[in-house]
Amino acid sequence: MSRPTSIPFDYNKRLMLFSGRANPKLAQDIAQELGVSLGEITLKTFSSGEVYCRYEESIRGADIFIVQPTCANHQTGLSPNDSLMELLFMIDAAKGASARQITAVMPWMGYSRQDKKSAPREPISSRMVAKAVEAAGADTVLTMDLHAGQIQGFFQIPVDHMTALPLLVDYFSALQLKDLVVVAPDAGRVKLNKKFAGKLGAELAILNKERPRQEEAEIHYVIGDVRGKTAIILDDIIDTAGTLKAAAQTVLQEGAEKVYAAATHGVFSGKAFSNLESSGIAETVILDTIPLPEGAPANIKVLSTALPLTDSIRGIFTDDSVSAVFSGENQTF
Ligand code: R5P
Repeated sequence: MSRPTSIPFDYNKRLMLFSGRANPKLAQDIAQELGVSLGEITLKTFSSGEVYCRYEESIRGADIFIVQPTCANHQTGLSPNDSLMELLFMIDAAKGASARQITAVMPWMGYSRQDKKSAPREPISSRMVAKAVEAAGADTVLTMDLHAGQIQGFFQIPVDHMTALPLLVDYFSALQLKDLVVVAPDAGRVKLNKKFAGKLGAELAILNKERPRQEEAEIHYVIGDVRGKTAIILDDIIDTAGTLKAAAQTVLQEGAEKVYAAATHGVFSGKAFSNLESSGIAETVILDTIPLPEGAPANIKVLSTALPLTDSIRGIFTDDSVSAVFSGENQTF
């Protein structure tokens, strides 16, 4: 009896890429890199505020990838909650239309900072988001730089985790900055900053941050030497930029010559832009997981995540390694 010499590949697999209204530009960039067109879908918000979706072509048997970071989009008028609901309905509709495999591509996962109880009687909101995505029918989640590693454990389905670190390392290496110190803005980012510093051949410093109230940040002191150096403060998220402003001011007071800031996700809510403008930060570098709202200061540089997202989507579709896209270093926690 002859034995098969290779594992048969399913050539009938069909990849379809769809975008919600949260970050259509990112979805378009991925489509271009993948060499596919975005799938036809109707998405709208009724006057009541309820969102609606319908796939305008058959998706039966297809492996579908839904690009929808659960963020606000001021251009399309979506709140983070609208984006989340839209994602859930897109997954549910795909399930009901007999898609073979559904991947929720949510490079930014809203509510990820609410990953534990910080006070009695609070919800664990990111766990609830994970349950909802799963209950809607997603088979896999593709995400980037989650706020905490354990959020992956809120899902029972596979979570493919990407990181922006290689993009940031390439960007800052090209600047050829001298006397560099990488500064972790709080204890939660020490491991990430240690890796970043290692890749850039920089020193590491750590800030002692406290939150007297929600959405307020105080930095008390610096652990490490920043005097006379160029500092890069690396965070996962910039929301109100209160953390970065306090961090940059402390580092400058301690004698740093110049301060850069970097983060994967630019939420930019509240006074974020005026905080950045008065922070003394020379340049802020973010990724395009969330669309940049209008009125952003000119010294915000946005790097594209389309390539690693494309490579990861290709890997999921062809059953190849996603961690190989990041040389096995995609768990940054
Ligand atoms: C907190 O633990 C996060 O890593 C960020 O530092 C925080 O979300 C940034 O928020 P904001 O910009 O509002 O200070």
